[in-house]
Amino acid sequence: EQKAIDNQNDPCNMVLKPGLEGVPVTQSAICDINGLKGELKYRGYSIAELAAKSSFLETTYLLIWGDLPSSKQLREFEDAIQMHRRLSFRVRDMMKCFPATGHPMDALQSSAASLGLFYSRRAIDNPQYIYDAVVRLIAKIPTMVAAFQLIRKGQDPIQPRDDLPYSANFLYMLTEREPDPLAARVFDRCLILHAEHSLNASTFSARVTASTLTDPYAVVASAVGTLAGPLHGGANEDVIAMLEEIGAPENARNYLKQAIDQKSKIMGFGHREYKVKDPRATLLQGFAEDLFARFGKDEMYDVARSVEEEASPLLGPRGIYPNVDFYSGLVYRKLGIPRDLFTPIFAISRVAGWLAHWREQLSANRIFRPTQIYTGKKTRAWCALEERN
Ligand code: ACO
Repeated sequence: EQKAIDNQNDPCNMVLKPGLEGVPVTQSAICDINGLKGELKYRGYSIAELAAKSSFLETTYLLIWGDLPSSKQLREFEDAIQMHRRLSFRVRDMMKCFPATGHPMDALQSSAASLGLFYSRRAIDNPQYIYDAVVRLIAKIPTMVAAFQLIRKGQDPIQPRDDLPYSANFLYMLTEREPDPLAARVFDRCLILHAEHSLNASTFSARVTASTLTDPYAVVASAVGTLAGPLHGGANEDVIAMLEEIGAPENARNYLKQAIDQKSKIMGFGHREYKVKDPRATLLQGFAEDLFARFGKDEMYDVARSVEEEASPLLGPRGIYPNVDFYSGLVYRKLGIPRDLFTPIFAISRVAGWLAHWREQLSANRIFRPTQIYTGKKTRAWCALEERN
């Protein structure tokens, strides 16, 4: 037996998989991706159908508890979320101490983690604790994002409005205006599309944190930190910056050629799972067009379409196509949302997936503890300071 363990730990017998590509680290029944066909399903339902027929809260319930809710379950869930949307004055006061120049993702990570100070972590095997934690996180994260937006402008956060549904209320808290119904519905559909995507970096981060049996607020806070990076959720901000730099559709080809020659990444392109256009990008492009038809076109849309067209012969043969981040920024821009809130909005939605994985991890938990191939020095003799040069 010892020999088998030694063999297993012998670096010569280990295969390094950078980025864990293709390495299954868990079983999951939450989300199914077919990267060759460009299909995505949550709990067996296609995202196109969910985005057309469901609400974000109904989708959240489905992801976390495995089935679409009955009307009673949905009403209770929506009511509970409505009751918990407000933030404690302590959290608001804490947020007022954050630097106004800080990134909203950092503000969100800190605020989400702070919830752990208020709610006990000792009951993660109690279904009521789990339900309450889910409700609190789904309810309060949007309020935190909106609160920081007003606080950094020097204003007091405004209270949620009980007569407005989830997405409309978020846009209201953010802009201080009741949103147009089409804008609120498009926003809700965006949340549905971003809610879950199997073991992406932030969800993996959530599962690793969950596997230590810490509290769900720490699980979500660690996932928010992981989502913030430009190779993950942060790419949606960079896409708009890139489109603005390109400036006009006719510049797209040169920009792409130069970037590819310099081995720079095209933001909003490429995905570990998809070798075709991300189905969410196709849907988001449609949402952007719905908004343009109603509220007027964004000139960056033509630039984006030109980038997609010109990139097709250059990157398509390598399976690199627009991902979820490519068109989402154009939708949010049309909704009047500042660029550095795009990723926090991604977090508002993805908290549903993180919490579904939190529950699933707890249902068959084993702490994550992978191994490494040590490449450092073997054994060194310590030498006194005066003898080092
Ligand atoms: N533009 C140009 N080339 C690309 C791109 C891109 N966007 N994406 C991948 N490639 C190329 C790489 O340069 C690399 O080429 P090489 O083999 O010649 O070195 C090859 O494709 C493989 O790229 P990796 O980065 O190894 O692919 P990986 O699966 O590790 O990364 C990722 C996927 C991070 C999404 C990558 O495509 C990327 O950086 N895209 C840009 C950032 C982005 O849009 N991120 C959002 C992803 S969606 C989300 O997280 C919500």
